[in-house]
Amino acid sequence: MSGKDKLRKFRENETFKCLFQPKLEEVFGKDYYLKGNWHEKVFRNTNPITVELGCGKGEYTVALAEKYPDRNFIGIDIKGARLWKGAKYVEETGLPNAVFLRCRIEFIESVFGKDEISSIWITFADPQIGRDRKRLTNPMFIKRYMSFLRPGGVINLKTDSRYLHEYSLAMAEQNGMRILDCCKDIYGEKKADDILSIKTFYESNYLRQGIPITFLSFEPGSDAASLKDPAWNPDQWER
Ligand SMILES: C[S@@+](CC[C@H](N)C(=O)[O-])C[C@H]1O[C@@H](n2cnc3c(N)ncnc32)[C@H](O)[C@@H]1O
Repeated sequence: MSGKDKLRKFRENETFKCLFQPKLEEVFGKDYYLKGNWHEKVFRNTNPITVELGCGKGEYTVALAEKYPDRNFIGIDIKGARLWKGAKYVEETGLPNAVFLRCRIEFIESVFGKDEISSIWITFADPQIGRDRKRLTNPMFIKRYMSFLRPGGVINLKTDSRYLHEYSLAMAEQNGMRILDCCKDIYGEKKADDILSIKTFYESNYLRQGIPITFLSFEPGSDAASLKDPAWNPDQWER
């Protein structure tokens, strides 16, 4: 994508009603004005909200919103030129239950209030090999998610990275979290139902390379104080 193309998308993003782009000073050490108010001020209903972290072009957010008109969806990413694709689609189609948020996931506690969110999808996140503290399923991030997930809230992780999958499974198991589903190859094991077979941009690339796609679904619970790093063997997995 050329720089000119990016700038055009950034300019267009400014005009989209479905795209929220808080400035750093609105979320850094401060509550964003929509924290605790997404139902009332954005969706204008009380339907459950699902968040997609690192949504890129927003394929899951859009597909789930179309499939579940009685739920709300928020796709979050830091890259505006990627978000443009999903946001443009929502603007053009008028899809009422999907919005996007351009924000670093590190600031997520400034953005969502207690019990505001029902479930989370993490789709093809960077496994952050060797950088535990940046991994989106690290206990530090899970603690942040617990601050706004409703009781019984679920985290779904879909990834091409066996490293990220095994790390997250060890983290969930060793912290006594309830595992709802775990699969090492959703297409090979024919587990890809109409939800799991939604394909993101990155997923399509990995599938072309013949890389198996894994899935993990778990309930993190609410015991944030006792969360610990998992003991596991990272050297077993190359990617
Ligand atoms: C590998 S891409 C996957 C994108 C999309 N889910 C897909 O499957 O096509 C990871 C995405 O996460 C976003 N991302 C990574 N770290 C982030 C962070 N700390 N806060 C917000 N977005 C982040 C990147 O901008 C990127 O779009």
